[in-house]
Amino acid sequence: MLIQALFIFSLLVASTQALDFCVADPSLPVGPAGYSCKNTAEVTVDDFIFSLAAPGNTSNIISAAVTPAFPPTFPGVNGLGISIARLDFAVGGVIPFHTHPGGSEILVVIQGQLCAGFISSLENKVYFKTLVKGDVMVFPRGLLHFQFNSGKSPALAFASFSSPNPGLQVTDYAFFKNDLPTEIVAKTTFLDIPQIKKLKAILGGTN
Ligand SMILES: *[C@@H]1O[C@H](CO)[C@@H](O)[C@H](O)[C@H]1NC(C)=O
Repeated sequence: MLIQALFIFSLLVASTQALDFCVADPSLPVGPAGYSCKNTAEVTVDDFIFSLAAPGNTSNIISAAVTPAFPPTFPGVNGLGISIARLDFAVGGVIPFHTHPGGSEILVVIQGQLCAGFISSLENKVYFKTLVKGDVMVFPRGLLHFQFNSGKSPALAFASFSSPNPGLQVTDYAFFKNDLPTEIVAKTTFLDIPQIKKLKAILGGTN
């Protein structure tokens, strides 16, 4: 009797309790709320672990690298409202102006020196400062922000986000890395045509 009652009770609890987690199943379609949940029986500890030990490759035009730990490569954060990325900066490296439409960012400097800042949307007020090892800075959701290595040695930071899918739009890429005609870019940004053509050439834009 008692065993049966306990069994029925545990079934009731299981059916009413929220899921502990929703490990991403990348084989199912992804929607606005993220990935569907992997069958719990197939979830392993490795779904909740990701290595950010390896430095990213900074041999690129920004001399910086972002290594994200997002779903589906890091399936365990799906549905939990968090994620993290590793940021490597060579000397002179920069993560140019960008926004994360889906989440706020909190950054901690592990090594080196970064100049970081963001711009408010209401008054276009600038908040920027030089950060050193151990400093933490927060970047509110959706606001334009940047980080660059302002020191004389490589820099390392980790950025955590209030979403497993914070999204990323790099402003220069949006303006100059597509086929929007130069005349329209000039008309809508007030930039000079030679400057627009130069940036389109560097970033792979056309027209
Ligand atoms: C880093 O990227 C550059 C440019 O793509 C490439 O030539 C180089 O082999 C890469 N280095 C490593 C260690 O992967």
